Amino acid sequence: QTLRKLAQDDNLLIGSSIRYDPLLEDDTYQRLATTEFSSWTIENEMKMDAMQPEQGAFNFVKVDEMVQMAEEHDIKLRGHVLVWGEALPEWVSQQVVDRASAEQVLKTHIQELVTHYKGSIDTFDVVNEAWNDDGTLRDTIWLRTIGPDYIPLAFQWAREANPDAKLYYNDYGNEMSNAKSEAMLEALSNWKKDGIPIDGIGMQTHVDAADPRFSKNRIQEWFTRIEDAGFDIAVTEMDVKLQNLNNGDAKNVQAERFGDVMEVCLDTPACGEFTVWGISDNHSWVTEQESPNGKPLLFDENGQPKKAYNTLKRKLLF
Ligand code: G3I
Repeated sequence: QTLRKLAQDDNLLIGSSIRYDPLLEDDTYQRLATTEFSSWTIENEMKMDAMQPEQGAFNFVKVDEMVQMAEEHDIKLRGHVLVWGEALPEWVSQQVVDRASAEQVLKTHIQELVTHYKGSIDTFDVVNEAWNDDGTLRDTIWLRTIGPDYIPLAFQWAREANPDAKLYYNDYGNEMSNAKSEAMLEALSNWKKDGIPIDGIGMQTHVDAADPRFSKNRIQEWFTRIEDAGFDIAVTEMDVKLQNLNNGDAKNVQAERFGDVMEVCLDTPACGEFTVWGISDNHSWVTEQESPNGKPLLFDENGQPKKAYNTLKRKLLF
């Protein structure tokens, strides 16, 4: 039994973020990507720096190849991300100087992408990481030039380009109630009431295994509140890094965290997708950028399943 087969029986998409290079070059990665998962989130190749390296010159080649591969294996795709304050091409800081130029650039970027992938990608992380931990809006070039309106505008532009797409707001640290997630939910709910097409909220769920604030009950309460507010839910980028924990416990705690979030997702009807941020520990942003010994994923460096993988399977079975 694969994760994918088990999740299908639960009517759940089970996803991973996917990178172009290992998908082509690493046989183990390719095998796991195509057999264990029913959804792929494009990890980096759809970000603005990759998609529009020069103004107006869109580079669809790699994502087009990934789309084709996904179709061959009957895998659904999640477009990531249309609007973010990071992974921007250099020209943006020269060309985006005021509200008018910013709107022009953002609208073009969003609509070119959504239109190009109409029929092959119908779920998008439209806006990513717009809030700070204290509940204020994060300082980005989009906030500085357009103001808070850049968020509802982005959703409207995406909707214009594809009326059938599922449009998500995506963030980290928003999987429980706190200053950031409360500010986020209040603003998104108000916009939604005004008719802004925000279909769902993505909870990235990057977890540090040693973080004492983790609480399955609090996550469950929060998912229920988001569902009650009328949003679809996706766990979009889960990983559990081990760095500050004794090795003996670490793998058990990691497996437990993955299992808890899976259980919450399965118990929340609005939660239709559970995606992890990478397949194996050797192709992970945590290993590369956070802590080399973080080992945050379901498969080890050799592509062997870890305890967390078996825990997820057990949760899916019962
Ligand atoms: O592929 C190049 C390689 O050729 C080059 O030699 C190397 C030198 O810097 O860079 C490699 O590209 C890096 C890429 O990851 C692939 O590993 C980029 O520099 C690096 O910036 C990029 O980081 C990505 C990061 O977002 C920034 O875009 C991570 O892979 C990716 O996992 C991470 O994902 C984010 C989500 O999009 C949003 N939520 C948080 C999450 C984790 O930070």
